[in-house]
Amino acid sequence: MAAFDTVIRRGTIATASETYKADVGIRDGRIVSIGEALTDADEVVDAAGMLVLPGGIDSHVHISQPSGPGIVMADDFASATRAAAFGGNTFVMPYCLQAKGQPLREALKDYHALADQNCHIDHSFHLIIADPTESVLGQELPALVADGYTSLKIFMTYADLALSDFQILEVLAVARESGALVQIHAENYDAIRFLADRLERAGNTGPYFHGKSRPIVVEREATSRAISLAELIDVPIVIVHVSNREAMDEIRRARMRGLTIHGETCPQYLVLTEDDLKDLGMEGAKYVCSPPPRDKASQQACWEGLQQGIFSLFSSDHCPFRYDDEAGKLTPNARSSFRWIPNGIPGIETRLPILFSEGVSKGRISLNQFVALTATNHAKTYGLARKGSIAVGYDADIAIWDPGRTATLSQKDLHHGADYTPYEGLEITGWPIATMLRGRFVVREGKLVGDKSYGRYLSRGKPFKPSAP
Ligand code: URP
Ligand code: ZN
Ligand code: ZN
Ligand code: ZN
Repeated sequence: MAAFDTVIRRGTIATASETYKADVGIRDGRIVSIGEALTDADEVVDAAGMLVLPGGIDSHVHISQPSGPGIVMADDFASATRAAAFGGNTFVMPYCLQAKGQPLREALKDYHALADQNCHIDHSFHLIIADPTESVLGQELPALVADGYTSLKIFMTYADLALSDFQILEVLAVARESGALVQIHAENYDAIRFLADRLERAGNTGPYFHGKSRPIVVEREATSRAISLAELIDVPIVIVHVSNREAMDEIRRARMRGLTIHGETCPQYLVLTEDDLKDLGMEGAKYVCSPPPRDKASQQACWEGLQQGIFSLFSSDHCPFRYDDEAGKLTPNARSSFRWIPNGIPGIETRLPILFSEGVSKGRISLNQFVALTATNHAKTYGLARKGSIAVGYDADIAIWDPGRTATLSQKDLHHGADYTPYEGLEITGWPIATMLRGRFVVREGKLVGDKSYGRYLSRGKPFKPSAP
C-alpha cells in the first residue's frame, strides 16, 4: 500500500503566514505530511509553477432563501456550490432564514433538506433571527448554539427582518451567554424608508436611486449604533458587508476602545461604483445590493481596510437573482420603483479571482493576506477546526492556482444559476485551476469531477467563551 493516496508535488504552498515550496501528502482526506520528495502515492499531481492554497471559505452566501412573493433565488445548493468550487472554494456558510413565528429547528430542517446530498463542497449554516420571541431567546437559540450552530445574523433594515434596538440587545445578551457570534447588517431602516418615500414622490424610481435611498450616513449611523449595543452587552460581533470609510472608521475606533468587532467587506465594494448604474435604466437592477457600491474613494478605503486588518473577512455576499426574469430582478413591481427590486448580486465564483487579481497580482495585498482574508480568518472566526490552512492534520481542502493565468470574466464561462455577472469584462490575472475537497478533486482542468453528494454539513465550535456557566 502506498504511503499517501495523493501527493501534490513541487507547488508553492501559502498559508496566512508563510510561503514555501514543498510537497503535500494526503491520506484519508487529510493532510498527513508536508515535506520534500514525497512520492509514494497512488496519484502524484505535479503543481510545479503553481500555488497550493487552502480552499476558499465563503462565510457569507445566500442560497435558496425565500426573498418575497413570486421571487426565486437563482441558485440552489447544487448550483451554488458547483460555482463556488469552480471559484476555488471548499466551504460555504449560507443562511437559514427563520420565517416570522417559525421555530428555528423547523427552519433548519428545511435548509438541511435542501442541502443534504446536494452540495459539491462542505457547508454549515448561520441562523437569521427574524423573530426573537421568548422561546427563541430562552430555549431554542441556546440549545442550537450548543449543537454547533454557533453564529447568527440580525438585521437593522428590511421590512420583514429589521429588529428594534431592544430586540438587538436581547439577541446579543443570549449570544454572550451561549457563545454565539452575531453578524449585524447595519443600515438605518427608518432613514431608508424616509428617503425612499421622498425619491418616489419626486419620480426618481429607477434602479439608480436605490443607492440614493441608502447613502453612507445611513450605514455609518447603524454601524455606530450596532457597535454601541454590542459594547453595552460586552459581546463580539461581525459588521458584515462594509462599503465605505466612515463605517469602517467606526470599527477602527471600537477596536481602539478594546472591543472585539470583526469587519467584513466584499468584491462589489472594491470594483463597482454607484455610477455603474447611472445610464443603464432598468438594467441597473443587475447591480442592486445593500449596502450599495459607492465611489472610487470608498473603494480605496475598503482596500486600506483589507491591508490594515480592519476587515479580516472578505466574503462574496452571493445573493443571486436572474436579471431577465419576473421571478428575479424584474418583478412586476420592480419597474415601478427600485424599492421592489430584490437586493443582492451573484459573486460566489468570482470572489477569489477578483481579490487575487486586484489584490495580489496588482501588489495591494500579499499572498498571505489573501489566504487569511479568504480562508484562514473565516475558519478561526466561525469555529471551523481543521479548515482554512495547509497544515498537517487539516482537511485536504486545497485550491491549486495558476498565478499567471489570465481571463476576462464573462457570464458565459460561469457556473452559477444567475443569467449575468456584475463583473462582465473584468480582466483577471491568477486563476484557480483545480479544487480538492477532503482529498478528492471537485474541479479539475476546467471540469466538474466531483459529486454533489460529497459535500458535508459541519457542526462548529464556539467562536468565544460564553459568559455564563
Ligand atoms: O443586497 C444584499 N446584500 N442582499 C443580501 C442580503 C443581505 O443583506 O446580505
Ligand atoms: Zn444537513
Ligand atoms: Zn446583509
Ligand atoms: Zn448577505
